[in-house]
Amino acid sequence: MLREYLKEPSVFVCICNGLRERDVREASQGVRSVKELYCRLGVDVQCGQCTRFAKEIMNETRNGPSPDTAIVGAVA
Ligand code: FES
Repeated sequence: MLREYLKEPSVFVCICNGLRERDVREASQGVRSVKELYCRLGVDVQCGQCTRFAKEIMNETRNGPSPDTAIVGAVA
């Protein structure tokens, strides 16, 4: 598992369910809500602390990076 993580590191989005950013990105295609996203991943929202970040990732996957991210990317 560590070897797998080191090949493709990914931050945790949801601690309660152990969801990583890549899980959320992969499951985001075609979903319209966080509830639908979590259902696709086979988990339920528990504490709710992750939903805003999950929604950001979901929107970014659908629409491309946010303007803030694009500016940082252009400068770097
Ligand atoms: S961190 Fe995702 S439900 Fe708690």
